[in-house]
Amino acid sequence: MSRSAHPAGPRHADVLTEGHYTAPPADLNALDPKVWAHTVTRNEDGVVSVGGIDVATLAEEFGTPAYFMDEADFRSRARSWRTAFGHDADVFYAGKAFLSRAVVRWLHEEGLNLDVCSGGELTTALSAGMPADRIAFHGNNKSTEEIAKAVESGVGRIVLDSFQEIVRVAHIAQSLGKRQRVQIRVTVGVEAHTHEFIATAHEDQKFGIALADGQAAEAVRRALALDGLEVVGIHSHIGSQIFDMAGFEVAARRVVALLAAVRDEHGVELPEIDLGGGLGIAYTSEDDPREPHEIAKALNEIVTRECEAAKLRTPRISVEPGRAIVGPTAFTLYEVGTIKPLDGLRTYVSVDGGMSDNIRTALYDAEYSVALVSRASDAEPMLVRVVGKHCESGDIVVRDAFLPADLAPGDLIAVPATGAYCRSMASNYNHALRPPVVAVNDGEARVIVRRETEEDLLRLDIG
Ligand code: LLP
Repeated sequence: MSRSAHPAGPRHADVLTEGHYTAPPADLNALDPKVWAHTVTRNEDGVVSVGGIDVATLAEEFGTPAYFMDEADFRSRARSWRTAFGHDADVFYAGKAFLSRAVVRWLHEEGLNLDVCSGGELTTALSAGMPADRIAFHGNNKSTEEIAKAVESGVGRIVLDSFQEIVRVAHIAQSLGKRQRVQIRVTVGVEAHTHEFIATAHEDQKFGIALADGQAAEAVRRALALDGLEVVGIHSHIGSQIFDMAGFEVAARRVVALLAAVRDEHGVELPEIDLGGGLGIAYTSEDDPREPHEIAKALNEIVTRECEAAKLRTPRISVEPGRAIVGPTAFTLYEVGTIKPLDGLRTYVSVDGGMSDNIRTALYDAEYSVALVSRASDAEPMLVRVVGKHCESGDIVVRDAFLPADLAPGDLIAVPATGAYCRSMASNYNHALRPPVVAVNDGEARVIVRRETEEDLLRLDIG
């Protein structure tokens, strides 16, 4: 997680918070292009627009809270990943970040593949026309039904996550008369510099098979011996919201070393490696993410170098960015409700959503930015905490930020960079109705995931 810890700020502010805020920005009306989607601008009348439509119009038509996704920005980020990696590599968008049928179609059109990790994601992908051979199926505890569905539909690869699963997938594939292409997910023993819950390559966690103690080599040995499996490569995913390429480099080196060991033992050169996702994005102006072409260059260089040293043919590389594609493309629009100034501390600004539409602040201590978007203001900055309407005090959307002191109920504020892991992790806590996702493009807005209704809630509650 990014962390901007500075002691500056009003008296006593550190009593209530861990003090993550920086000094107020020079211009509260400015929108940092690092954290906002490409087409977001503040118009001459002070109102912010996306895809050519202003937020007042969007709020009027679609209500709040709502996620607005800049389709052109999504497509252009997807395309930059595709172009950066070129035709000798594959980019699998990680559907867990945000998945809908419209998004699947955009990905298909832009030439990306798709990583899914549940039966539900697989069904969504197939129902929107993603060719099965461009889908990778993940998960540390895939059910028999999920495996059977993946094999039957002909997914391009299943990423095997345990010794038990090697046998299970081989058995299911064989009983369906198929030979399933698989990769083996290894844990390379890297401590990624991110929040513990989203770091995945150190050994003490539930994913993958450890390289240490020869376990991964044993997994390859067992998988190669099974008729139902075609072992095509090794997979490593080291974590999420990572800025430092060093972890990826160590991972790539260790994966290539395994490929060399497999070649030496079995005379087989596995043709693929997948280095996972995890590239960080800017949630605040303090974050400096890498561009896809820099990432592609760094990964290609390290894999090529290591393969040359080991006298291996360079395998086909794939990556699985989720957040880095969808994260920056959307913002959440909220209406301001209760405003509660706490003397000498901060002002609590309550919005009409909260931890049900963005759990990341509560769960990972994530940092976000926020701006007043329904008008410009020349008022002084005030230190705020943006909170939701749920029944607990941890219901925080933006822990520390500055908004103009003339903020009033009915104003619209927006939190940028909420495209990833917000709608996909949204809940019905307090029977909140999960917000819609609206795609905006070139003057047109279209609901791609509709708002939940009270009828939806009651439909599941069968009395
Ligand atoms: N590939 C695999 C095998 C993964 O497990 C993940 C994310 C990705 C790719 C995509 O990672 P990304 O590029 O989006 O960082 N809910 C957390 C993030 C959990 C990530 C889980 N796996 C969050 O909100 O930060």
